[in-house]
Amino acid sequence: MKGLTNKIAVITGGLGDLGYATAQRLHEEGCRVVLVDLQPDMEGKAGLIHAHFVQLDISNEAAVEKACEGIAAQVGNVHILVNTAACFIFKGVEATAADWATINAVNIGGTSLMAKYIVPQMRSNGGGSIINFSSVSGFVGQSNFATYNATKFAIRGLTKCWAQDLAPDGIRVNTLCPGYIYTQAFINSCEKLGLDVEEENKRAAAMHLLNRQGRVEEVAAAAAFLASDDASFITGSDLLVDGGYLAK
Ligand SMILES: NC(=O)c1ccc[n+]([C@@H]2O[C@H](COP(=O)([O-])OP(=O)(O)OC[C@H]3O[C@@H](n4cnc5c(N)ncnc54)[C@H](O)[C@@H]3O)[C@@H](O)[C@H]2O)c1
Repeated sequence: MKGLTNKIAVITGGLGDLGYATAQRLHEEGCRVVLVDLQPDMEGKAGLIHAHFVQLDISNEAAVEKACEGIAAQVGNVHILVNTAACFIFKGVEATAADWATINAVNIGGTSLMAKYIVPQMRSNGGGSIINFSSVSGFVGQSNFATYNATKFAIRGLTKCWAQDLAPDGIRVNTLCPGYIYTQAFINSCEKLGLDVEEENKRAAAMHLLNRQGRVEEVAAAAAFLASDDASFITGSDLLVDGGYLAK
């Protein structure tokens, strides 16, 4: 893909399934990659792709400011920001004030804080690309998912507003919206709930026109495309990587 060589890319949720796959792909495309995650990098995953690692809670503004200053000083001014980090609270009308505060602070607030402190670096570079992860859950209602889906709808709103604000700076802002992706987190949640992984995989597959769940590499390819100069006329857009979930 065009224009990725030597670009500095920060991926929040970089140790997660989709964040790490995106980091791997951007590394393969020649980017210098920084993984940001709440969890420590116990398995040394950053080292495997020659990436930097920053342990950070993206909902903590002082910590985000300090981390972004550190990235600029140690790696350089960032060109690409991929916001995949998310808090997963699935509740309906019974959600409490604490639930809302927690999920909003990470999914909306944390995403926003990362952009707040990275955008000045992109301006210094003369442009950049921000990719915010939403979901098919940012388009439709799903039972008992109100807390999560509200934040995924919000991500699409943020994207469109920032696309307007940042176009004059040459910064493109887009939303990436995966369907159900076959991840380790999916397998873990089936096991935690005592559900048969294969049965659940079949059930999830049937929700998509392509009759399967997506692969992390398929999402990563779309993120790399949005980050690259191949997407130079794309901003304020929602890119569905959903196997036809929303076309049904
Ligand atoms: N997996 C799917 O099927 C799917 C489908 C649609 C959309 N998405 C979206 O893709 C994104 C990534 O999902 P995933 O499946 O890779 O999840 P994941 O749980 O594997 O990864 C999320 C990562 O975010 C990190 N994180 C959580 N809170 C954080 C915080 N406060 N600060 C920094 N890091 C934090 C976690 O430690 C984790 O490593 C999410 O935004 C999710 O909504 C996923």
